[in-house]
Amino acid sequence: MIRTICCIGAGYVGGPTMAVIADRCPEVQVTVVDLNQSRIDAWNDVDLSKLPVYEPGLDQVVGRCRGRNLHFTTRVEAAIANADMVFLSVNTPTKTKGVGAGQASDLRWIEASARQVAACAQGHTIVVEKSTLPVRTADTVKSILSAAQGEVAGAGSPKTFSVLSNPEFLAEGTAIPDLESPDRVLIGGEDPAAIESLASVYGNWVPQERILRTNLWSSELSKLTANAFLAQRISSINSIAALCEATGADVNEVAHAIGTDTRIGPKFLKAGPGFGGSCFQKDILNLVYLCGHYGLSAEAAYWQSVVDLNTWQQDRIAQLVVQRLFGTVTGKRIAVLGFAFKADTNDTREAPAIRICKDLLEEGAQLAIYDPKVPAYQMGADLATEPQDAPTGGPLSGEGVWQRVATPAEAVAQADALLILTEWASFAQLDWADLAPRMRKPAWLFDARSIADLAAARAAGLQVWRVGCG
Ligand code: UDX
Ligand code: ADP
Repeated sequence: MIRTICCIGAGYVGGPTMAVIADRCPEVQVTVVDLNQSRIDAWNDVDLSKLPVYEPGLDQVVGRCRGRNLHFTTRVEAAIANADMVFLSVNTPTKTKGVGAGQASDLRWIEASARQVAACAQGHTIVVEKSTLPVRTADTVKSILSAAQGEVAGAGSPKTFSVLSNPEFLAEGTAIPDLESPDRVLIGGEDPAAIESLASVYGNWVPQERILRTNLWSSELSKLTANAFLAQRISSINSIAALCEATGADVNEVAHAIGTDTRIGPKFLKAGPGFGGSCFQKDILNLVYLCGHYGLSAEAAYWQSVVDLNTWQQDRIAQLVVQRLFGTVTGKRIAVLGFAFKADTNDTREAPAIRICKDLLEEGAQLAIYDPKVPAYQMGADLATEPQDAPTGGPLSGEGVWQRVATPAEAVAQADALLILTEWASFAQLDWADLAPRMRKPAWLFDARSIADLAAARAAGLQVWRVGCG
């Protein structure tokens, strides 16, 4: 019976996942730890609108459990020592240098947290991999833990460990419903008792038939494969979008037509500015690295092309904005609506907006960027430049400059174009009769998410381009 859980890493995965476990298992004490003091402070903020992760419904879940059986702290060692089960939910970005740079995951945080568990755990501890990891990472974790196995801390019983893989399938923006009603929960491992302990935690709210048990490597590989298949669908539909634009077809009609085939299904067929997020690119690159490692070069090239098409889609959109604005955007104001990688999140990791904005800045544009949830400092970190220090919504000066603005109306003031990059629901409601007259004519609407009311935009005098629409 699991009574205490510790989760290392209070990020987009660890925070919401532990909040839902605490909510659904009132008899389990859940402690989420992180080295980052300001992140922990934000999780403990009395003002629930200041949580570090924006997810619809998360504030209510945290509000119900925090202080009862959900705790956020930087006291990592004590939380590990008290835990029956430790989740590793730390960041695993793609390596930027050394062997496997640009493809393999950087496992330094996983290794550090495994070492911390090895040092601080007491008695028997079940260690659960939650971060997305390359296949066979459990081996690394196991060998670090087994080196500490048998040690006795004080008067306690000897340390023993079981390692499980329990990949997270939640999508940001819908994390709470995904966690509360998952399609499946996957548990990979070798120790049947440990597997059943974790299954019994989920069994508090997930039907047994949705809890799948596999071996460790199948579980790890299933996560990479699920993300690779999803991402591959997006690159596929984006390739068709370009063809639709060239031929006069409409990608939404094509997507609907093929999606009614039950073998294909209707989901994940939305053409757009390319996929972003912390998982898809990283996981495919992991797969490419893994295939290469085992000498499967054709397979590696196949998956690499999914990422290449995605990068191409982003560059393509930036280029066509330049082309439509008479071949130059130098010194022109462009309103960018949406910076997060998808709607209903404040996360910008690998957001298509980053590459597209960088391309346009490189071309000399002045960008007025609006996103309901992404703060200016995050945009600055992603664009690797400071915003121009000018009155918000007023004119910008010079070339290759940007500013975060507070409303779409501020963004479009004297702009030559408006570019929608995230499908925030409010962008479907934009009042074109109000916005269009604020722009410099001839003005363009570039709708990379197929969300705007094009008829209203046209009626208000704008020229329009929509992804996948010839
Ligand atoms: C993904 C997986 O869905 C999830 O199971 C896994 O645990 C983590 O990675 P996430 O990245 O949070 O989740 O969001 P997701 O909804 O999958 O969207 C990823 C990207 O694809 C976004 O940039 C989104 O805008 C884009 N997308 C998605 C499309 O362009 N078209 C679609 O049809 C669907
Ligand atoms: P994810 O999207 O996978 O949740 P994040 O980057 O949002 O990734 O969160 C990972 C968190 O893990 C970060 O807040 C980071 O500070 C934390 N972290 C990394 N290594 C450790 C560690 N050894 N101990 C505690 N926290 C850690």
